[in-house]
Amino acid sequence: MVGREDVRGAEVTVQSLSRIYPHPCRTVALQEITLTVRPGEWLAIVGPSGSGKTTLANILGLMDRPSSGRYWLDGRDVTALSDRERALVRNRLLGFVYQSFHLIPTLTARENVELPLVYRGVPRRRRRELAEAWLCRLGLEGRLHHRPFELSGGQQQRVALARALIGSPRLLLADEPTGNLDEENARDMRRLFSELRDQGQTIILITHDWALAQSADRIARLEAGRLVGDMAGRTGYAR
Ligand SMILES: Nc1ncnc2c1ncn2[C@@H]1O[C@H](COP(=O)(O)OP(=O)(O)OP(=O)(O)O)[C@@H](O)[C@H]1O
Ligand SMILES: [Mg+2]
Repeated sequence: MVGREDVRGAEVTVQSLSRIYPHPCRTVALQEITLTVRPGEWLAIVGPSGSGKTTLANILGLMDRPSSGRYWLDGRDVTALSDRERALVRNRLLGFVYQSFHLIPTLTARENVELPLVYRGVPRRRRRELAEAWLCRLGLEGRLHHRPFELSGGQQQRVALARALIGSPRLLLADEPTGNLDEENARDMRRLFSELRDQGQTIILITHDWALAQSADRIARLEAGRLVGDMAGRTGYAR
C-alpha cells in the first residue's frame, strides 16, 4: 500500500541558531537554538504563541535563513546553500505542512498533492495514482476533485499533509497539523504520525495538542525564542 515502505530518516543538527526580524521593529524570534534530531526520531515542539515555533520550522524547512548559527542535514551543511540548491533539497528530502496550508486555490485536491512530483518530472499517470492513494489513506477519497475553497479547514489540512508525504520525504516538518481537526480526525492523525515514525521517517511536529506531543519520542519547548525544555515523550528518551 502507498507510503508503507520504510524510509531512511534524515538527521537534523542545528547549532546556535538565531533569527532576528529587523522589520517592522527588531524582534529576536530565535535565540541560540542548539538541537539534534536523530534519524527516525519524532520530535514535538511546543510553546506559547509567538515563541518562535514557525520561525524554527521555516528555517529547518529551508524556507528561511537564520541570522546566525549553522544547520546540517545528514551531516551536510545546508546553511549557506544557494536558492536553487535549497529548492532541490526541499523537493528531494523534505515534506512540509504549513500552519496556513498554502494550497493552490485554482488546483483540485489531487492536483495540489501531485505538485511535488511534477517538479520531480514523475509521469502524470504515476503522479495521479500516488496522489489518489495518499488522499484515500487520509480519508479524502470523496474529495479528489474539490478545490481548496470547497473543503473544510480539516480537509485542507489533510490535503496539505498528503502533498508533504507524496514524495516520501526523509524529514517531515508539520506546523500545527491538527489545529483544525476534530477529536476523531486528530486521533487518526496521531496514528498516522506513529506509523510514519515506525517506518523510519524523521518527524518534527509543532503542536498545541498535548496528546499529539506525548505520542512523540521527545518534546522540546520554546519560550520567547529559547529552547527551555527537552523532555522525554513516548519512548522515555531525552537528550
Ligand atoms: N515575517 C516576520 N516579520 C517580523 N516578525 C515576525 C515575522 N514572523 C514572525 N515574526 C515574529 O517573531 C516571533 C515568533 O513568531 P512565530 O510565528 O515563529 O511564533 P509561533 O510560535 O509560531 O506562534 P503561533 O503559535 O502563534 O503560531 C513573534 O514575535 C512574531 O511576531
Ligand atoms: Mg506558528
